[in-house]
Amino acid sequence: MSEEDAESDEHGTSGTFDEHGSRTDGGRDDLEAVVAAVRERIEPDAEERDRLRTVADRLIERAETAATERCPDADVMQVGSTARDTWISGDRDIDIFVRFPPELDRETLERYGLEVGHETLPEGHEEYAEHPYVKGTVEGFDIDVVPCFRLESATEIRSAVDRTPFHTSYLQARLDDELTADVRLAKQFLKGIGAYGSDLRTRGFSGYLTELLVVEYGGFRGLLEAAAEWQPPVELDPEDHGQETFDDPLVVIDPTDPERNVAAVCAAENVARLQHYARRFLDTPRTEVFEPDDPGSLDETALHAHLERRGTTPVAVRFEAPDLVEDQLYPQLRKSLEGITTGLDDRGFDVFRATTFADDAAVIVAELAVADRPAVERHDGPPIHVRSHADGFYEAYADDPDAYGPFIDGDRYVTERPREFTTARGFLESDRLFDVGLGAHVETALTEEYEVLVGDEIAALCEAFGRELARYFEPRP
Ligand code: UTP
Ligand code: MN
Repeated sequence: MSEEDAESDEHGTSGTFDEHGSRTDGGRDDLEAVVAAVRERIEPDAEERDRLRTVADRLIERAETAATERCPDADVMQVGSTARDTWISGDRDIDIFVRFPPELDRETLERYGLEVGHETLPEGHEEYAEHPYVKGTVEGFDIDVVPCFRLESATEIRSAVDRTPFHTSYLQARLDDELTADVRLAKQFLKGIGAYGSDLRTRGFSGYLTELLVVEYGGFRGLLEAAAEWQPPVELDPEDHGQETFDDPLVVIDPTDPERNVAAVCAAENVARLQHYARRFLDTPRTEVFEPDDPGSLDETALHAHLERRGTTPVAVRFEAPDLVEDQLYPQLRKSLEGITTGLDDRGFDVFRATTFADDAAVIVAELAVADRPAVERHDGPPIHVRSHADGFYEAYADDPDAYGPFIDGDRYVTERPREFTTARGFLESDRLFDVGLGAHVETALTEEYEVLVGDEIAALCEAFGRELARYFEPRP
């Protein structure tokens, strides 16, 4: 979405509205036209499908040969969006699952799985999710060859991947061509608004969740119309399992496994984001919302202007990003952000807003409403009538040359003592920073080395993090 589009969106310059802000002209036709244009673009054509089919078939055959040589009872299935025809043109992942009988012990399954993976993808490399699997690239397609157990029901699963084949059969039985096209639209919409993906950086809607929602609401428009009215917590239970309760803003009980909320990682923010854009889109359908918007990069001049206008003081802790996959890195960064924010707030440095970002370097940025505090802080003692406590307090401070008082305010003793840190920088550069809750690997990285930037010094972040700073200083839904 470009800036101008967002503007015209916000101010409703297109279309006609009645006094309640509802459309009075052909909104429906617009929606159909927009949807048709987007469909055209995201639907893989015959040639692209063929190419994928050819590569997938070849690899499945190789995997079958390698698997049955080791275990005659093994079989191979394609799962995920390319098996269900819910993939978007340009997407290139083929998920191949090798299923072994449940009698096999886990160790052998892992060994066979890797051997089959390597024979299927000679150029591939090993990765580790819940168990190891092989990943590789063939003719531009990203291929995963993942071993799992073939079970009777998803409730017997031993690891998360064992559920995946059940998802595929559940959805295959329920998706017709219309719904399939609508799943693609819904995925592209979620990508456009930045809410697609169950990785722990995004914490959005997974492919499987999107498919379930489209099936549940009977299509893309049905999903948007429902989402526009959601009152979280929203609970959907397509197969009426009805036993578990979950404490999440969006709950979609996995039809194949009553104990799992498919939307467990979907953050409240992304639920709200879908609601916001669903309302806007139903009001004023636009193709732009299907494209992720590029905020551009904030340069130093623009940054200075924002800081001047806001009158706040940003502080940043910059360090080398721990060498972790994103699914481990981002939760640790968020935990550290929370810890540092609390550490600042507790010492009187009021955090106005805060964020974290990473590439090679990682940064935790807190924008402070208060960055400097006086040399003294007030320390309230007990009420004087609580004699034992009051005496103890009085004796502790009576001869303290650094403290004012004790004196009496109301019915209490009070002293005014020197404050440990009068500047946020002082706190962040001290060892007390390590008293706050930090992610384990972030803590290790900070022990090595870190740098504190205050105020205009954060201009040093513009080069590596201009886009992130633009998102921060020009925030939108
Ligand atoms: P993918 O992440 O590739 O999702 O996982 P997808 O459905 O194919 O969607 P896109 O089009 O690639 O984005 C493949 C399958 O693994 C299971 C789901 O069954 C999914 O369809 N899976 C994946 C989960 O159950 N949970 C997850 O968090 C991720
Ligand atoms: Mn996939």
